[in-house]
Amino acid sequence: MENAIMVTGGAGFIGSNFILQWIEREGIPVINLDKLTYAGNLRNLESVNGDPRYTFVQGA
Ligand SMILES: NC(=O)c1ccc[n+]([C@@H]2O[C@H](COP(=O)([O-])OP(=O)(O)OC[C@H]3O[C@@H](n4cnc5c(N)ncnc54)[C@H](O)[C@@H]3O)[C@@H](O)[C@H]2O)c1
Repeated sequence: MENAIMVTGGAGFIGSNFILQWIEREGIPVINLDKLTYAGNLRNLESVNGDPRYTFVQGA
């Protein structure tokens, strides 16, 4: 598999902003592992849905 980074809690405030900036600036794919608690909101990441560099996995 090619290189990728994993972000935990990426649907939260800090994580989603990090992921959006990473996708904008870096070529390396991101895997977002988030439990989706009350603090998680996938609408934060709508703009990268469908981007081949972005993968969401629900889990803890
Ligand atoms: N300025 C603003 O509008 C604003 C908005 C929200 C938060 N904040 C601040 O940001 C800071 C917190 O931001 P944050 O991004 O660290 O936290 P957050 O609470 O915003 O998000 C945490 C994320 O981690 C996920 N999560 C929780 N437990 C998990 C687990 N076991 N495994 C995987 N994912 C898990 C949640 O679903 C959520 O998406 C606080 O200081 C808060 O006051 C500011």
